[in-house]
Amino acid sequence: MEKYFKLNNDVKIPSIGFGTWQTPDGETAINSIKTAINNGYKHIDAAAIYDNEKGVGIGIKECGIERKELFVTSKLWNSERGYETTLNAFEKTLNDLQVEYLDLYLIHWPATANQFNNWRQINSDTWRAMEKLYTEGKIRAIGVSNFLEHHLEPLMENAKIKPAVNQIEYHPGFMQNDCVKFCVDNNVLVEGWSPLGRGKLLENELLKEIANKYNKSVAQLCIRWALQNNVLPLPKSITPNRIKENFDVFDFEISESDLTLINQMDNFGYSGLNPDSIDF
Ligand code: A2P
Repeated sequence: MEKYFKLNNDVKIPSIGFGTWQTPDGETAINSIKTAINNGYKHIDAAAIYDNEKGVGIGIKECGIERKELFVTSKLWNSERGYETTLNAFEKTLNDLQVEYLDLYLIHWPATANQFNNWRQINSDTWRAMEKLYTEGKIRAIGVSNFLEHHLEPLMENAKIKPAVNQIEYHPGFMQNDCVKFCVDNNVLVEGWSPLGRGKLLENELLKEIANKYNKSVAQLCIRWALQNNVLPLPKSITPNRIKENFDVFDFEISESDLTLINQMDNFGYSGLNPDSIDF
């Protein structure tokens, strides 16, 4: 199993990203980033709304690995959609993270018909700003997050540069097959948030039984399962032994029949966050 995926602009992206949602800023963020990088992670998944970019940035600075060896993602928050606002929000994120450039910048959630009459226009204005930053070399790849097919289609109609990534909720029991197929058909890499179903999957009996067979934990099974389905998982933890455990997934292979069993699991562990009905 390769430790990288390749994006549609040929940029290599390390195949497991370290999630930082709900990681408290300050010492916790700093130490968890350092622990992750010291245990092999090269890819950090941040976002302005997580309110910890300063700590994440210090962790990156102090980890002992050169910036160019790392892959740093951040996301544009919903209140900053639009052309000028996106440019400004991007500068703030660079400042908070104390980096010169981002490897990947994502629109965190689509503007949708539920909230805006002119949602298409809002998304395409935001996207034009992302394209400008990309063209200027300030971001190595641009993409979206939580976009369903009907949000991606109009964005792509007007786009000069296609999104390289769509980051969506993805874990056993919530595979979003239609959205993933649309992305694969359009050469958009899918990243999966909450690959452990926010921890809920760890008590699932089927997953426990399968994980036991490989002498792995359910967390490791879920992460490996995403990789074998060509989805880039973004496990989050602030606990050193879990951070380490979640990266230790390159020494086993889930059989085709076990993959199928997991792929066929009933709906389980869904966060309930539907992009079309969020109110933030
Ligand atoms: P913590 O950060 O306190 O270690 P997800 O990535 O699906 O959103 O899940 C994140 C949640 O799962 C966090 O609460 C995290 O706790 C917990 N978690 C992460 N990795 C593991 C693991 N290997 N075993 C048990 N719980 C984990």
